[in-house]
Amino acid sequence: MSIGLNVEKITKEEINTSTNEALNNLREIIPVFKDKFIPGCSNNNFYSPSENTCWTNGFHTGMYWLAWELTGDATFKNAANVHVDSFLHRIENEIEVDNHDMGFLYSLSCVAAWQLVGNETGKRAAILAADKLISRFHEKGGFIQAWGELGAPDNYRLIIDCLLNMPLLYWATEVTGDEKYAKIAKIHTATSVANLVRDDFSTYHTFYFDPETGEPTKGVTAQGYKDSSPWARGQAWGIYGLALSYHYTRDPKCIDLFYKITDFFIERSPSDGIAYWDLMFKDGDGEPKDSSASAIAGCGMLEMAKYLPKEEAEKYTNIAKQIAGALARNYTPNPKESNGLLLHGVGVKSSPYNPWGDSGVDECNVWGDYYWLELLVRLSHDWDMYW
Ligand code: GLY
Repeated sequence: MSIGLNVEKITKEEINTSTNEALNNLREIIPVFKDKFIPGCSNNNFYSPSENTCWTNGFHTGMYWLAWELTGDATFKNAANVHVDSFLHRIENEIEVDNHDMGFLYSLSCVAAWQLVGNETGKRAAILAADKLISRFHEKGGFIQAWGELGAPDNYRLIIDCLLNMPLLYWATEVTGDEKYAKIAKIHTATSVANLVRDDFSTYHTFYFDPETGEPTKGVTAQGYKDSSPWARGQAWGIYGLALSYHYTRDPKCIDLFYKITDFFIERSPSDGIAYWDLMFKDGDGEPKDSSASAIAGCGMLEMAKYLPKEEAEKYTNIAKQIAGALARNYTPNPKESNGLLLHGVGVKSSPYNPWGDSGVDECNVWGDYYWLELLVRLSHDWDMYW
């Protein structure tokens, strides 16, 4: 069955316009934010400077590196290098690093710094972060614990987002020559895909294991509408995570599963091409979009398209271009309206099953901004990724 979105693909002119708007925005951020960071989510579409204490801080630095690659303007490089020092301080002083988010934080900031400009501080910080990440690996169950006290039964689980943290481990093996990092990445990925993917190829957000036996016990959501529903951003992490896993391992199982979970995402995308925050929702349900989920999925499709047969590569490339077209036309702000790059994201949305309290609902978020810029970069030239 041929599937697609009913949206015009982004044009070259739109790519240029959106890229220039993003660069102008980032240029204005630098003197205001100085050594501080864009927070996870905006407030009425405006961000205020915040400290380097959140899982999202790497996205800000990653945008500076992308901007530097696009322009060669040293202002971006210098701003990114200031952030890299902050990331070394954070990992050396163990500031908010007792979680699995090390790849989100250190791939886009410190691995990029090492890769692009040979920044030794970035390399050192990223290896320390990889060590921190593998310290959360449980032999019993074969996974990296996402959150909370290590081994605590109420947190003995993995989450789908963590697939994006695996590239940090493959990179650590490459630079240190120590296979332990890649070995753990492969075991964690195998456990994730074996348990998180449902029979209809939607995905669970998180999956618990028995701390005594390591046996998988149950799939539970933390940020979706309910345990059995397909949280849109989780599905998108799965799409991009499988593409990254294929990049590093060339395991053909990643491709087969990628087709299935990506097609589920596309089939559940509504008329304007951009996902609701949970893929159970449709037009008319009155629920907010999560533009970041579609931007992440688009990046994953473009990464995986590099390895697919021609027809499939074209299909997913075209869908990524349709997503980009929809984002460019209807989800980017006028400069006076916002200091973010992408409108209409969701941080956390509560539901009757999941009463966390809302944060960042129908707001910009820094990861949505980052993946939007990455999508534009991927669409404009061959890009050597930081993941
Ligand atoms: N990784 C956390 C989130 O997607 O909200």
